[in-house]
This record gives sequence, structure tokens and C-alpha cells, in this order.
Amino acid sequence: MLKFGILTVSDRCSRGEAEDRSGPAIEEIVSPLGEVTAYRVVPDEKEEIGAALIEFADVLGCDFVFTTGGTGFAPRDVTPEATKAVIEKDVPGIPEAIRAESLKITPKAMLSRAVAGIRGKTLIVNLPGSPKAVRESLGVVLPVLAHAKETLSGETISCGKA
Ligand code: MTE
Repeated sequence: MLKFGILTVSDRCSRGEAEDRSGPAIEEIVSPLGEVTAYRVVPDEKEEIGAALIEFADVLGCDFVFTTGGTGFAPRDVTPEATKAVIEKDVPGIPEAIRAESLKITPKAMLSRAVAGIRGKTLIVNLPGSPKAVRESLGVVLPVLAHAKETLSGETISCGKA
């Protein structure tokens, strides 16, 4: 059973001026694989994003935390910076794969500065903000989540065997 955390980063959603549609899109996609044990909406503030990521990882024990939003070029977009401040190991292959697949759909994919990384036994992955981008990006990552959890928890002793 995989444990998921979802962190929506949006000034407007955090103020109640817009409905969060991206967080629920993530929930819909990951729910068949496990349980969503944490969900929060925070403004585009580095400290608040970082504090939520630390809580989801260290206190709530999420295996995976998906953020959505705040990865672009807008002045207040700081999700990658907040993520980099709390991860212990960088996982560049995930955003590389997401951007590579997304570029087949839209050239705007290169405008996402999303990162991924490991904190303790938690993998944190940034996703772009729109529900469309969430769906396109998550599909790239889903096939490796079970193996990612095995290796994160130290259960796998031999990779690469069928
Ligand atoms: N990736 C996919 N797969 N599909 C998309 O529609 N939109 C892009 C990009 N990545 C998009 C995508 C756009 S328009 C932007 S501005 C960046 O993600 C950053 O989005 P964010 O600031 O909402 O995080």
C-alpha cells in the first residue's frame, strides 16, 4: 500500500478565490495505487511549502509527495526552490522524463522548472499546475512508483532482475 501526499501550491486557491482542481486530479490518478494520507493547499510561499513537505515526509510518513503548481516563470513561482531546500538527494531523471514526454504534447513543457528528490524515505515530485499538465505528467511516473518505494525502503537487494 503506497501512501501519498498532495500539496497544491496556489495563491488563489489558498485564498479561496479559485477551486483546486489539480490536487483532486492527482488524487483520482493515485488512489487506485494506495491511499492519500495528506492533502493541503498552500500559497506560493517558500517557507510554507517547505514546512508542509517536511511534515508530509517526516511526520505523516508519505512514500510519495506530489506538488502541483508554482514551477513556472511567474515572479511568485518558488515550488522548485522550496523543494530543493528540503530534499537530501536530487532525482533528476523524473523531471527529465516528464519534460521529455510532455514536450511531445506541448513545447510549453520546457517552461516547467519542476524538480524531484528524496527526503528520508519520501520521494517528492513537482508537477505543473494545470489539471491537464498533472494528468500528462503523472502518467510518466506511475510505472516506476512501486519499484521506487522498494528501493527507498531498502527492501530491494537486486535491481534489474525480471
Ligand atoms: N506539461 C504538460 N505535460 N502539459 C502542459 O500543459 N504546461 C506548461 C508546463 N508543463 C504543461 C506542462 C506550462 S504552460 C507552464 S507555464 C509550466 O508547465 C509551469 O506551470 P506551473 O507554473 O503551473 O507549475
